[in-house]
Amino acid sequence: MLKIKEFNKIIVANWKLNGSNDFLEAYFDKLVLKDIDSDICGIICPPITYFQKCHSKLHSLYLGAQDCSKFKDGAYTGEISASMLKENNCEFCIVGHSERRHEFNENNEDIKIKAGLLLDAKIIPIICIGETLEQKKINKTQEILKEQVINSLPQKSSKENVIIAYEPIWAIGTGMTPSLQEINNIHEYLKKDIEEVEGYKFLYGGSVNSENASEIMNLENVDGVLVGGASLKADQFSEILKA
Ligand code: PGA
Repeated sequence: MLKIKEFNKIIVANWKLNGSNDFLEAYFDKLVLKDIDSDICGIICPPITYFQKCHSKLHSLYLGAQDCSKFKDGAYTGEISASMLKENNCEFCIVGHSERRHEFNENNEDIKIKAGLLLDAKIIPIICIGETLEQKKINKTQEILKEQVINSLPQKSSKENVIIAYEPIWAIGTGMTPSLQEINNIHEYLKKDIEEVEGYKFLYGGSVNSENASEIMNLENVDGVLVGGASLKADQFSEILKA
């Protein structure tokens, strides 16, 4: 398992359901990896079918998955287990992304099970949490985040082996982000006021792009970013990796 505490910033590209053989060729031709500081952990999470192709082109970046099965093995048609991911060079895996929570009805318990299986397979889970706009409007953000964090963490989790990504749902793919002050305050709350995750690494996600990545990542309490749309553009993602 990688030693995440040795990285200064962690930058994750979440490709979601995007990519093709042609896309991959063009992407890695354009991606500039030479100016990345050695204490930056860059992770690309493509659809699993592109794992092998990506792995041969990643250089200093790491490979991550976007989800894994909550089952270890057995009669579960269509599923891919944590140990299968590990055998295919996967070092990180996003779990509990809001799209999975909403489109596929995943709950905190599912996420906790998945994260536990990932740890067993020596893969670092990136557990996503976030509030809706309605919850934000009625000042429930802190309460919702605390509940999601505490109930999604597997027993074996520690600040050495789990990363948490705060992604306000209303900021994902919308071009809207909380203010820098808000992002920093929420991260401070998560890191310092929730005893169970004191000292964990926390990423921000939701409409991160090459223009705002640097100021978000340089906030005192932010340990990196989780990037969706902008990570599909090699020139933008190259900029973000240098930010
Ligand atoms: P976005 O997506 O950067 O396109 O807002 C982030 C995410 O869903 O992880």
